[in-house]
Amino acid sequence: DWDPSSIIEDQVAAIRAKVGSDQVICGLSGGVDSAVAAALVHKAIGDQLTCVFVDHGLLRKGEAQQVKHDFVAATGIKLIAVDASEDFLGALKGVSEPERKRKIIGEKFIRTFEKAQRQVIEEAGKAGKEVKFLVQGTLYPDVVESGGGDGAANIKSHHNVGGLPKDIHFELIEPLRTLFKDEVRAIGSQLGLPDEIVWRQPFPGPGLGIRIIGEITRPRLDLLREADAIAREELSAAGLDRDIWQCPVVLLADVHSVGVQGDERTYGSPVVLRPVSSEDAMTADWSRLPYDVLARISTRITNECPGVNRVVLDVTSKPPATIEWE
Ligand code: XMP
Repeated sequence: DWDPSSIIEDQVAAIRAKVGSDQVICGLSGGVDSAVAAALVHKAIGDQLTCVFVDHGLLRKGEAQQVKHDFVAATGIKLIAVDASEDFLGALKGVSEPERKRKIIGEKFIRTFEKAQRQVIEEAGKAGKEVKFLVQGTLYPDVVESGGGDGAANIKSHHNVGGLPKDIHFELIEPLRTLFKDEVRAIGSQLGLPDEIVWRQPFPGPGLGIRIIGEITRPRLDLLREADAIAREELSAAGLDRDIWQCPVVLLADVHSVGVQGDERTYGSPVVLRPVSSEDAMTADWSRLPYDVLARISTRITNECPGVNRVVLDVTSKPPATIEWE
């Protein structure tokens, strides 16, 4: 039988042996995977680990606060928060091609970690040294979809695998690289992480950046952030959090359609709801959500998000579609 305790023991031993007395940083995205990877490494090497939370400007509403407070409160792990939104959004200006977005975001993450390491070293009183290791919460499906599996095609470059720059000088520690999400959740619970972290729905590292179809701009991000918050709020209120795997909310920023609101003609963009059910994200089916919940989400989004005059439902399984639109 599959046993989280023995995986934890094995990984803790392997991490200690690999790291020795060196300093380690872990990129924290707010998602389940990086949180569990961090907790596992923390169990192995304690204060030699510093987590770095990068606000790339592509986060959802409330996410930064959640990581900065809830995660630290739950784990006691050292955390550095970096606001890198200018940097990320600057580099993404004018870019609409999905793989280019992914590569830019993957590279910017690494450059941000490289900068953060100075602070880590200073605080550890190890002047002149470098941080040698970077922890990532990479899962088995991320590796496969990025074309890292045996002979697998590159479906999309996950930010922490295919999206990594070539000249990265960190050595990677990826304790979850052979695991699926349900196994990672079991390990997280075993490590004592609270349900709000362990049962969070997956959210991709590139964030809202791959949910704006078209160029990423601040006004578009603000709009999508609001629509996403509404969908999450209504799905939670309806008690559906654990029934669906995740529900990406996507802004078709370059598409326009005619609407009418308050006797006025509008010419706005549609928002897509993409609720899916899945075991491991390798395949997925679209969730048959109750119509009244869909209706509430639609009404609220069109009322509360200026410029959105249409809400549509994605009824495609994976395959042939993927879960995210980019
Ligand atoms: P797709 O869109 O490939 O998504 O069906 C499968 C699962 O992976 C998530 N995803 C990512 N997670 N970095 C991540 O950390 C990424 O670059 C990335 N791309 C997709 C997606 O949300 C879904 O759960």
